[in-house]
Amino acid sequence: MNRQDAMYHALRFLKKSETLGSCFEFGLYQGQSIVTAYKIHTQIDDFPRHFYGFDSFSGLPPLSKADNLNDYGVFHEGQFSVSKSQVYANLIKNGMPDNSFTLIEGFYNESLYEENTIEILGDTKAALVHIDCDLYSSAIPCLDFIAPRLVDGAILMFDDWFCYRGREDKGVRRAFNEWSNKVEYSFTEYSKYSWSGIMFICSKK
Ligand SMILES: C[S@@+](CC[C@H](N)C(=O)[O-])C[C@H]1O[C@@H](n2cnc3c(N)ncnc32)[C@H](O)[C@@H]1O
Repeated sequence: MNRQDAMYHALRFLKKSETLGSCFEFGLYQGQSIVTAYKIHTQIDDFPRHFYGFDSFSGLPPLSKADNLNDYGVFHEGQFSVSKSQVYANLIKNGMPDNSFTLIEGFYNESLYEENTIEILGDTKAALVHIDCDLYSSAIPCLDFIAPRLVDGAILMFDDWFCYRGREDKGVRRAFNEWSNKVEYSFTEYSKYSWSGIMFICSKK
C-alpha cells in the first residue's frame, strides 16, 4: 500500500471508531502529504479536523551524532528546505482553505514547547499524527510534544520507519522504541506502507 492508501485507511479507521481530534504533521517539505490527508478527510470523514503542520521551513537541522551511520548519507543539513510562504501557497493552491490549517515554524527542539504553542493549540487533541521528519533527534521532541494530546484510538504514522537500512537503533525507529516505553499508551501495528512507513493505533492504558 502506498502512503495515500495508508492515509485513507487511517482516516477511515478514525471515522469508523468515532475518534475525534485534529491532524498533526511533523515535516511538511512542500506540503504533499498534508494535502493528501486533507483531501481524503474531506472525501470520507464525518468529523471536523484542523490540520497543524510543524516544520523549520529551512530543512533538516544539523545531523546529531545519533543520526549518523557509517557510510549512510541519505540525509543532510538543509535538505528539504522550502519557505513557509511557499508551503502556505502550495496548500492554498491545492484546495486547502486558509482556515483549515495552521503552520508552525521552527526547529522542533525550540518550537515544540507548551509555552510556545498553547495559545495556538489550546487543549486541541491529536487523532492523526504523521511523523515525517527523518531523524532520531527530530522525532524525539515531536513524540514528547504530542504524547499528552493523543486520544485513545489515535493513529500514529511514521514515514521513515525503515530508513537507516531498517535498523531499530537508528532514526525514528529508535525514537519510538525509547519513547513508547515511557508513555501511558500501548501500540498496535495497523499497517506498513510504501517502502519505509508504518502506522500504529495508540491505546490509552
Ligand atoms: C522528508 S521531508 C517531509 C516530506 C513531506 N511530508 C512530504 O509529503 O513530501 C522532512 C521535513 O522535516 C522537516 N524537519 C526535519 N527535522 C526537523 C526539525 N528538527 N525541526 C523542524 N523541521 C524538521 C524538514 O524541514 C522537512 O521539511
